[in-house]
Amino acid sequence: MKPLHILSVASEIFPLIKTGGLADVAGALPAALAPLGVRVVTLVPGYPAVIAALETARRIAAIDMLMGAPASLLGGRAAGLDLLVIDAPHLFDRPGNPYLDADGRDWPDNGERFAALAQVAALIGGGLVAKYHPALIHAHDWQAALTPAYLRYAGGATPPVVLTIHNLAFQGRFPRSLLGPIGLPDESFTLDGVEYYGEIGFLKAGILFADAITTVSPSYAAEIATPAGGMGLGGLLAGRAADLVGILNGIDTQVWDPAQDRLLPHRFSAEHPDDRTRDKAALQSAFALDVVPDAPLFGVVSRLSEQKGLDLLLDALPGLCAEGAQLVLLGTGDPWLQQGFAAAADRYPGQVGCIFAYDEPTAHLIQAGSDALLVPSRFEPCGLTQLCALRYGAIPVVARTGGLADSVIDANEAALRAGVATGIVFSPIDRAGLASALRRTIAAYRDAPAWRAMQHNGMAADVSWARSAQRYADLYRLLIER
Ligand code: ADP
Ligand code: GLC
Repeated sequence: MKPLHILSVASEIFPLIKTGGLADVAGALPAALAPLGVRVVTLVPGYPAVIAALETARRIAAIDMLMGAPASLLGGRAAGLDLLVIDAPHLFDRPGNPYLDADGRDWPDNGERFAALAQVAALIGGGLVAKYHPALIHAHDWQAALTPAYLRYAGGATPPVVLTIHNLAFQGRFPRSLLGPIGLPDESFTLDGVEYYGEIGFLKAGILFADAITTVSPSYAAEIATPAGGMGLGGLLAGRAADLVGILNGIDTQVWDPAQDRLLPHRFSAEHPDDRTRDKAALQSAFALDVVPDAPLFGVVSRLSEQKGLDLLLDALPGLCAEGAQLVLLGTGDPWLQQGFAAAADRYPGQVGCIFAYDEPTAHLIQAGSDALLVPSRFEPCGLTQLCALRYGAIPVVARTGGLADSVIDANEAALRAGVATGIVFSPIDRAGLASALRRTIAAYRDAPAWRAMQHNGMAADVSWARSAQRYADLYRLLIER
């Protein structure tokens, strides 16, 4: 089969720069698509971490003017990824988080910065780089969503664009006054263009102009095309239902492999899940918990935000501790949640431990050493930590929403009888729902054969990219042939 050349456009990519699952997906999909004859080059902003990681940087195109200053395009490889990097120091030469300044506030020029990402993608689609003519552009989230709008207003033949929505809560809305500075024509500011409630809507424009829209799980695809789950864009998404599809994320099963994981103090395989006990003890020590082998140990690895439902967990903590269970939490984000968990750790020494940091090795240790991994999200487009949990033998305890519902099989009676349960899935997503899920989990933990069966099923589940990469490849081919 002739190889397909795809330009992926993403504002973060693992392992170079990451704030969440978007980076994991952008980093893992290219390798999963390669065996299917799809060659992916990823366009990313030239943050310092990206430029520093480039192994072989070549200047392959000049851009006369990009949001007020000249810029250029570098080509190279880093961490096994083929990259095109926008070298524009006035926009991207800023350390740390790609979206926030040192005080945790959005950079005031994020509109220009990510319009630039999309504009360069569109320029590449229009032939900026000699000898590189991608057959399709795959744009991720609001940061890349203006790509099809720029292509549309530039006119001429353009490659098809797939837009993937990783999280509808982040829409990229900016004042109308930005229209001229980011190089969009006045006539684009209409309902059939980039206008969105009197502002410029990056994601809105992407939804309108992309040839196909994907999101990261089938359930989330259904949820977002409704008034309740559409976050203001439900009507528009419903109107594009024929072009909207949910493709469940996978995880990189080389990065997440308990038998090979160099970040773990003790490695283990699906054949010997009992070897996890040594990681459990290491985890308890790392979080200054009592090293009790048979206390049910719950883990959380998460951004601390409203979306993740962790305030519900704060409410449920007294009950959990009264049962003799333990909790470890690794996360960063909203100060009010951080304060709440810090207070809980003070109140339940030896039972609740928190680390408020972004830390890969600790994330791996939690997956390896926790008995259960908690994801009580109010909504969750896909969620990756429950997939890691399945692979690492931690029982996922998840809210029935989005990709959580699509990736965990609840241990109800029918599933237990059929021998297919992999975790606990709860609804309604509220205090009482979570409290009862925690009680069910603790009861299941104390039923060793049932627990082991769930662990076995989870560790055998296919959480790789194989199936979903095939679906992306099929979609690309369909659009290119059309
Ligand atoms: P989201 O993208 O909404 O934050 P996902 O579950 O899709 O949620 O992806 C989160 C990713 O970030 C996972 O790979 C998870 O392991 C990682 N992660 C989240 N918080 C931390 C943290 N504090 N330290 C290390 N990794 C983290
Ligand atoms: C977003 C979503 C998360 C999803 C990730 C990768 O950050 O919040 O559910 O797993 O993107 O698609």
